[in-house]
Amino acid sequence: MASVVEKLIIQAIQTFSRTKAPSTQSFQSNFSQLKLLAEKITAEDVNLHESLSKYNKKRSSNGQDAPVTYIEIFENEDVTVGIFVLKSDTRIPLHDHPHMHGILKVILGTVKIQSYSALPNVKNPTPECLKNSIAGRGDFLFSESLKKQEIVISKKMPEIACTFSDGALILTPSDKNLHEIRCVEGPSAFLDVLAPPYSSSSSEEDPRVCHYFTEAPKTQIVSNEDVNPKEDHTWLLQIPCPKEFYCDTADYCGPVINLA
Ligand SMILES: [Fe+2]
Repeated sequence: MASVVEKLIIQAIQTFSRTKAPSTQSFQSNFSQLKLLAEKITAEDVNLHESLSKYNKKRSSNGQDAPVTYIEIFENEDVTVGIFVLKSDTRIPLHDHPHMHGILKVILGTVKIQSYSALPNVKNPTPECLKNSIAGRGDFLFSESLKKQEIVISKKMPEIACTFSDGALILTPSDKNLHEIRCVEGPSAFLDVLAPPYSSSSSEEDPRVCHYFTEAPKTQIVSNEDVNPKEDHTWLLQIPCPKEFYCDTADYCGPVINLA
């Protein structure tokens, strides 16, 4: 009998296969079923304990100690399924998932998730106009982001805390597509289903890459009728990947996935 992990992978392939191009209705139905399956997954189902004990042995022999560890379960050209493990007091910095869908299910510890939805109908400020307005303020990050026009105007969602007993969270190309994940009681771990994978090509970007952001403090947003954001708008500035964040890998030790 198929394990719950195998059922999840089969459903993920069916949901996100780009060769079959399902109707919107069948995509939504498949996506909902996939979310339900993700909500059934526990740390025991993926044998997380075994992965972590093997990882810890390897780490003590070669001294590696990354804040975040990734365990790949499955990846093809349409979807990637894996587990992120966060040590106590670490975070995956604010990042996006360009034109992607995702399902996130906590299976260990407690994380806090701060999500943002980009507002596509909100016109980006004119960089020239903003540059003039902030001239002399001397904020390097802000002015660099402006120069490159790498600003996302977004709606900030309420921060939520999640444990293994909570349901799965979803993100879509337009809804909650950016998030920061902080481990508040660790180690913590969550199952992550993403489609298409970051490495895959897209029409907008080739290859699809992850961008990192930081919130612009409100004090940096000048009072100017043309550029002053509305109360519930948050400006996100693209930044290089924060130095304290890096990821290593551990082996998947759960049930074998048989797709034959
Ligand atoms: Fe993410």
